[in-house]
Amino acid sequence: MLVKVPLVAAAAFATAVSAVAVPADIELMKKSYIERLHKRSTSLAKRNSLTTGVSDATILNFALTLEHLEDTWYKMALEKFTAADFEAAGYTGLYPLLEQVSRDETSHVGFLKAALEAAGATPVQACNYSFPLTTVKDFLSLSQVVEGVGVSAYLGAAGAIHEPDYVTAAGSILTVEARHNAFVRFLNNYTPFPQPYDTPLSATNVVTIVTPFFDSCPEGSAPTIKGKSAINVTTTEFTLGGTLELVPADASAVPAGTTVYCGFATGLEAAFTLWEDGSCKIPTENITTGQTYVLVTTGPSLEDKYTLAGPAIIDTTPQNTSVTIPGLENSAASGASSAVASATSAAGSAVASSAPASASPSPAGLAAATNAAVSGKQMAGAAGLFAALVGGLAVLL
Ligand SMILES: *[C@@H]1O[C@H](CO)[C@@H](O)[C@H](O)[C@H]1NC(C)=O
Ligand SMILES: *[C@@H]1O[C@H](CO)[C@@H](O)[C@H](O)[C@H]1NC(C)=O
Ligand SMILES: *[C@@H]1O[C@H](CO)[C@@H](O)[C@H](O)[C@H]1NC(C)=O
Ligand SMILES: *[C@@H]1O[C@H](CO)[C@@H](O)[C@H](O)[C@H]1NC(C)=O
Repeated sequence: MLVKVPLVAAAAFATAVSAVAVPADIELMKKSYIERLHKRSTSLAKRNSLTTGVSDATILNFALTLEHLEDTWYKMALEKFTAADFEAAGYTGLYPLLEQVSRDETSHVGFLKAALEAAGATPVQACNYSFPLTTVKDFLSLSQVVEGVGVSAYLGAAGAIHEPDYVTAAGSILTVEARHNAFVRFLNNYTPFPQPYDTPLSATNVVTIVTPFFDSCPEGSAPTIKGKSAINVTTTEFTLGGTLELVPADASAVPAGTTVYCGFATGLEAAFTLWEDGSCKIPTENITTGQTYVLVTTGPSLEDKYTLAGPAIIDTTPQNTSVTIPGLENSAASGASSAVASATSAAGSAVASSAPASASPSPAGLAAATNAAVSGKQMAGAAGLFAALVGGLAVLL
């Protein structure tokens, strides 16, 4: 799959975004929507789902737990890095778009809080988090994964929601998280849509993934669900049919003498291979490229009750820095090649080169700088960093 980042369009879009004021009507619409939710279900907090035993309020609060995390993630990054830092890393014009992403997350937090309060439930508060925020590139790499997990979390929860209006509300957020994810994938030179279906995760799966980010929470605001053991992944390249070396971080998670599987989830598919001597094969059937979740299981099932450890996160999508979008091709390609070449030769150095192109605010220079800035090598470096810092979150970028 081919991807070349048309930040040309992005920059134009950023200008357009800042020029468009949000009409007051939107706030009114949101308010009336929340009031409607209130009327429909005043005792929502106490109401339990017949099928899952989980109330809508619990589900919305779980969503809020994740939105707090995402909101803080972008706020911290935009405090730590300036527009100039992004520019120096080759992403001229990106900052205002990330500010928009950040505002989206803040808005999601406000919306869920209001919906919970309208339903008589107590919204969870933000926690203290520890994020591995070291460089602009690491930030973009981890953002890709964070947004992907957000999509999977909403998707996994959707089927358990009772009130149709809450399904719509969650869906309205989910699709925006999916666009954030697609945009960041694109920035990182991955196809924005690596598979035709997104991947649902259980709440337990999500807690396992995000637990390493939580430091401490106000009373009553920590995730109440318990996650599983994290997974240590030592493989650094992930290809369909390739070998994956992994062990549960907590070695005691695997009872002796049990047949153990690696379970892979992409889209709505599930694939299983045997886990033997600390490794398993990445299957070639019932799996697609894209952000893939790997579980260590006691049976060929991805259900929580069979899960011993994980998910770990891998991505089998090939990166491609030499793809253009029809229609944008000319503006993106013209004058770009020299900047790409020089940045490519600089790719071995750990520090993002202030590529020649970043000195040029021209659309062509912008696109070139962006492509150049995310070399596969640098992404691999970021992956190693995350794996080290985040433990269970094996990021294969
Ligand atoms: C990247 O995209 C280009 C242009 O479409 C294509 O020719 C090339 O084969 C792709 N490379 C990989 C590794 O997929
Ligand atoms: C979060 O961190 C701040 C600053 O270190 C501290 O004052 C506060 O008590 C922490 N909150 C919780 C819930 O631990
Ligand atoms: C997994 O990695 C963590 C952190 O590096 C380490 O403490 C732990 O011992 C590892 N677990 C196994 C089973 O190797
Ligand atoms: C793929 O799915 C088919 C049908 O469910 C199943 O028989 C096969 O074992 C699966 N392959 C893998 C690798 O999981």
